[in-house]
Amino acid sequence: MEAIILAGGFGTRLRPLTYTRAKALLPILNKPMIHYLINMLPKEVDKVILAVNYRKDQIEEYLKNNNFGKEIIVNDEPEPLGTGGAVKFAEKHVTGSFLVLNADIICSLNLDNMIDFHEKKNAVSTISLWRVENVSEFGVVDMKDDGNVIGFVEKPKPEDAPSDLINAGAYFLEPKVLDYIETGRLVSMEKEIFPQIITDTEKFFGFEFKGYWIDVGRIQSYIDANKLLLKNQKLKYYEGNDCEIDGELSKSSIGSNVFIGNNANLGSTIVFDNVKIGKNVVLNNCVIGENCRIGDHSNLKNSVVGDNEIVIEKTVLDNKMVWDQPVPHGYPKKQIGNVIGE
Ligand code: GDD
Ligand code: MG
Repeated sequence: MEAIILAGGFGTRLRPLTYTRAKALLPILNKPMIHYLINMLPKEVDKVILAVNYRKDQIEEYLKNNNFGKEIIVNDEPEPLGTGGAVKFAEKHVTGSFLVLNADIICSLNLDNMIDFHEKKNAVSTISLWRVENVSEFGVVDMKDDGNVIGFVEKPKPEDAPSDLINAGAYFLEPKVLDYIETGRLVSMEKEIFPQIITDTEKFFGFEFKGYWIDVGRIQSYIDANKLLLKNQKLKYYEGNDCEIDGELSKSSIGSNVFIGNNANLGSTIVFDNVKIGKNVVLNNCVIGENCRIGDHSNLKNSVVGDNEIVIEKTVLDNKMVWDQPVPHGYPKKQIGNVIGE
């Protein structure tokens, strides 16, 4: 069985971290997000198709150096084709019913159970569902009690949302879904294909699950995902290899080769590899990119520092993004992803 992982977005809401790396490679407890995705796949998935474009070389490099016991195909789109276009572009590798996963979810969904549900319902499409309070950033379903989905609306205004059940970003699809997607053009699965399948087949089902779920789409949800996995593993903090810690850490994770100075204090913070944090530094709810230096006596709150930046001593920041380098050529000014075309 094949699984397509949609890992081609720019991750604009995670800049400046995504100026220099693919979103799917952002570390959580020092492992790239894609590691968690591939590990949640059922045993029967023997082929993983990674739908990529932006920073695909980095993804390829990571997969070359890590063995997941499955065949991995890096399917490089010539240009971003949207969530639907990327699935269509993977068609040549699909041999039967298949899984599709957004690459930015961290969750407790059991895909085997979702596949069983799909088969019992004789569904054409089954999507995983998660209940939230604020649905406006997600796809929302209108669903009957037996799980039959009769409506899907992407990022509705709160007053237009049919329910509080959102698309959790994992689907099990019959191959005939591919016939609904036009070749070689930008297509949104959520805006165009799902509503069409609902109307045409009446065999579109929703599978709600409980436990945990986070869309790592923003800096805050990225920090939250890191905290959640720390909590699940009952860890106060996580550290990579060759670190020297002279300060205090809680609900934080640091990469490899990180130096933390005397009396520094890190709470709810993620630090990438090769970082030096000076003495008496306070970091609260921050992300610090690779190869950064944070000067002594600095105090950063709710802020993100991109790779290779130097924050001079005694800097005070709240709710700031630190990026003094040029924005990479071709990086979009606003979010595109599945909402391309707006
Ligand atoms: N290959 C490829 N090509 N992948 C893409 C493209 C593309 O053109 N555009 C987006 N992706 C990937 C992203 O990398 C991400 O893993 C996934 O598709 C979804 O795109 P996002 O940009 O993260 O969408 P979203 O978070 O706003 O909304 C989606 O996820 C929500 C749940 O997390 C939708 O599927 C919503 O309906 C859903 O509720
Ligand atoms: Mg997302």
